[in-house]
Amino acid sequence: MLMTLALAATVVSGAPPHEPMPTLRVQTDRPGARINAAMWGLFFEDINFGADGGLYAELVKNRSFEFPNPLMGWTPLHPAGVEIRQDAPLNDVNSHYVRVTANERPASGLVNEGFRGIGLHGGKAYEFSAWIRAAGGSPVLTVELVSGEGRVLAATRLKNFSPGWKQYFARLRPQQTDFKAQLRIQVQGPGALDLDMVSLFPRDTWKGRRGGLRADLVEMLAAMKPGFLRFPGGCIVEGRYLTNRYDWKTTLGAPETRKLIINRWNNEFRHRPAPDYYQSFGLGFFEYFQLCEDLGAEPMPILNCGMACQFNSGELAPLEELDSYIQDALDLIEFANGPASTRWGSRRAAMGHPAPFCMKLLGIGNEQWGPQYIERYARFARVLKQRHPEIQLISSAGPAPADDRFTFAWNKLRELKADIIDEHCYAAPKWFFDNVHRYDHYDRHGPKVFMGEYAAQSVAIASPDNRNTLECALAEAAYMTGMERNADVVRMASYAPLFGHAEAWQWTPNLIWCDNLRVYGTPNYYVQLLFSRNRGDVVLPLDLFDGNATGATPADRPPRLFASAVLDERSHEVILKVVNPSDQATPARILLAGCAKAGPVVHAHVLRGRSLNEQNSFEDPIRIAPVTQRQRINGPAFETTLPPYSFTVLRVRAR
Ligand code: AHR
Repeated sequence: MLMTLALAATVVSGAPPHEPMPTLRVQTDRPGARINAAMWGLFFEDINFGADGGLYAELVKNRSFEFPNPLMGWTPLHPAGVEIRQDAPLNDVNSHYVRVTANERPASGLVNEGFRGIGLHGGKAYEFSAWIRAAGGSPVLTVELVSGEGRVLAATRLKNFSPGWKQYFARLRPQQTDFKAQLRIQVQGPGALDLDMVSLFPRDTWKGRRGGLRADLVEMLAAMKPGFLRFPGGCIVEGRYLTNRYDWKTTLGAPETRKLIINRWNNEFRHRPAPDYYQSFGLGFFEYFQLCEDLGAEPMPILNCGMACQFNSGELAPLEELDSYIQDALDLIEFANGPASTRWGSRRAAMGHPAPFCMKLLGIGNEQWGPQYIERYARFARVLKQRHPEIQLISSAGPAPADDRFTFAWNKLRELKADIIDEHCYAAPKWFFDNVHRYDHYDRHGPKVFMGEYAAQSVAIASPDNRNTLECALAEAAYMTGMERNADVVRMASYAPLFGHAEAWQWTPNLIWCDNLRVYGTPNYYVQLLFSRNRGDVVLPLDLFDGNATGATPADRPPRLFASAVLDERSHEVILKVVNPSDQATPARILLAGCAKAGPVVHAHVLRGRSLNEQNSFEDPIRIAPVTQRQRINGPAFETTLPPYSFTVLRVRAR
């Protein structure tokens, strides 16, 4: 992903005559706080078609006919011969299926439109499957992949169906790439077939798992080397009402036994309706844990704490009914960590993972606030801390980084000696620049901070006009230097949301954009990637004398640079991260104090653009992406130039 560009030694011109050259002095011999190995991670939610229609590689929408309109996503070839039925279904949670009775003419069958079309790569294999029952006669099922223009790209036939439900498989290989293909199934007579869980997956899923995840999307995540994965959200944990909260237990087992529910983002924004957005839970808790393992990321499940979304109904589970929610948490710990001999550990083992997942983090509620939250959190914590002191609990400080809800939550959670408090912030880029020093003054002995959701908003929160601009990315990078400098307090952080489908999003900005066949990382993505891949082990004290730094200059002159420094103990490298949001190339003096030898080469990973408004796109996916440069140096004091509108990570060996 990183492009390499070998440069000759950077020639540093002098600073403009009226401004002193900024100096960054790093105390290499005074290591400070240890940085959590899981510091920079991922926030995942099924928003913007993040799971169904996105990461979960299923290509058929409403495969189970369980949407409230059972034929949503499907178009009968002819109304006669297509019937939704519920008698003798596949199972109780999947109670609808379709009966297709063969006609002489016209043909009987259905077409599935996919998630805004079906994306097919020419020459690649696709796995069709369906649960089928013969309902009279001995019909043949024709399965076709059809292009947007109606051309058959691949076809196969299935026959000899048994009178009981049975799963059938077929492989198709379209010869042509198509972003908007469809799946057409036809029954040729005489006779009829019952069909359910009609499914199509690419053969090449992540790690080749049948019914698995989109490989190109997971590869984007793997490239980041994330420290943790928070799942399954987000407001989706809460639901509009408690009846459609996220219940992890319904997401286990065979896909056809996972009960589908409405996605909370289906009808959240009137300006971005998504009436066809449901949760199939094909990507369920087992798969999330498995993904964490694949990525080397700490699993961080977030559970409902007996509260529906406070932006919606705010429905509360009465305190006397909270035990079942707390039991869900205990059962989840057993599912993740218990031996295969336990009730829930055996469910994990039955799904193919006898070894524990070694979960250490657990979120109690997503974005909750007020006394109702505190009393619910306290009940969870009392039980969980006593039974599982090894699990660090994450609690919520509400939806904003500073308001009455935030202050109330922090005060109460401090009294309760909470482990880690989840702060959320969606704000203008200016907020992030202005708050780079936010954590310098936090109590070193109180709860730790998890900045669990943050993203600079180029226009306003929830505005459909927000864009992933370079300015937003630089604002986040500047803020992240502040988190890194305070790594003793801020233990973890994640940008939110993670994915956006270009044709099906509800929320913007997002870290990674995809469509049915393509994906690209935003400038914000590359900021996250650079921090994560250059995490370091300990913070190094850094003095930034830039003539404009906060506290050093008049208030009307903003700082020119934002920086942090860490040490990679294994490679003996000092890693310096510097943000220059200005339009000026800024020469700077770097002093690695306390070390005798440095270099001889500095590797600089530079993310830069020509203007603050620049963005990446499907057509220009790495317009803003890190480029690696080399600079030769003669010792621990050297000069370098920080390009305009840039974020630079400098790595230099120091002894
Ligand atoms: O990231 C989008 C939403 O923002 C999350 O679901 C929620 O926690 C927050 O309000």
